Amino acid sequence: MTQQPICLFDSGIGGLTVLKKLINKFPNENYIYFADLARVPFGDKTKEEIKEIASEIIEWLSRFNPKTIIMACNTSSSVLCEQGRINPAPTVPIYGMIKSCAKEIANSNYLKISVWATSLVVENKAYKNSINNLNQKIEVSEIACPKLVPMIESLNTNHKEQSETLQKYINQIPNDSQALILGCTHYPLINEVLQKLIKIKIIDPTDALIKELEKHLIPCTGNKQQISIYATAGEEKLQRFAKLFLCEDVKVNLVKLHKLSSYKALNKIF
Ligand code: DGL
Repeated sequence: MTQQPICLFDSGIGGLTVLKKLINKFPNENYIYFADLARVPFGDKTKEEIKEIASEIIEWLSRFNPKTIIMACNTSSSVLCEQGRINPAPTVPIYGMIKSCAKEIANSNYLKISVWATSLVVENKAYKNSINNLNQKIEVSEIACPKLVPMIESLNTNHKEQSETLQKYINQIPNDSQALILGCTHYPLINEVLQKLIKIKIIDPTDALIKELEKHLIPCTGNKQQISIYATAGEEKLQRFAKLFLCEDVKVNLVKLHKLSSYKALNKIF
C-alpha cells in the first residue's frame, strides 16, 4: 500500500505548484503527474465538459493503483465537489483544492476575503459556497481571471507585461479585503510579481491541502522517490518547465486519451 504512487492532475503546468510542495513535505513518496495540455485551459469549459474530462483522467490514472488521486486543479475540484460526482466512482480517496482551504478560512478570523479563480470556479461559486456553508459571516468576493492561465502557460516571463495583466484583476479586489486566495494552481507561478503589487496576505490552498493529507496519508518509508509525468500534448515544453521548476530531470510521456479529439486546444502555446 505505502509504495503506491500519489497521482495528481491538472490542465497544464499549474498543478506542478502542488507537486513541488508535496515533494518537499513528503519526499519519500512516488508521484505521477498528468497534464492535459491538449485541453488547456479548463476554466473556460462547461461543467459537463470538465466532468467528462476529469472522469476520463481519473479513470486513466487508476491503472497505476494510486494510494490517492489529487485534483491539482480548482476547476475540476469545483465541478466534481472533490469526490461525489465522478463517473465511474473511484475506489481510491480523491482530494481537491477547495474543501480543506475553505475549512481553514471558515475557522479563521477573516471577515472579508477575495478569491482569484478561473471563470468556471467563479460561476460555480465554489469558494464562496464552501466557505459560507461553514461560516456565513465571511464575505467572499470571487473574481474571474481568464487571462492568467493563458499568460502563465505561454511562459512569458516579462514582468512588466505580467504586472499590466495582473493590475486589471487587482483593481477588482475590494479595498477592505484582508486576504487573497489563489484559487487556481497556476497562479502561485506568478506569486513573485504579485507580491510586489499587493499588500494583503496571499493564500495558496495547497498549504491547507497538505495539512489535510498529513492527517490521512500512510507514508512511504525508505523508498527511492520516483516521479513520472504524462501529458496529452506539449511534452517538450512540460519537460523543460519541470526541469526548471522542480529541479528534476523527468521524462514526459505522451498519452492519447479517447475523448481528446472533440476539444479545441490552446495549441498556440507550444
Ligand atoms: N490550474 C487549474 C485550476 O486550478 C486549471 C486552470 C485552467 O486550465 O483554466 O483551476
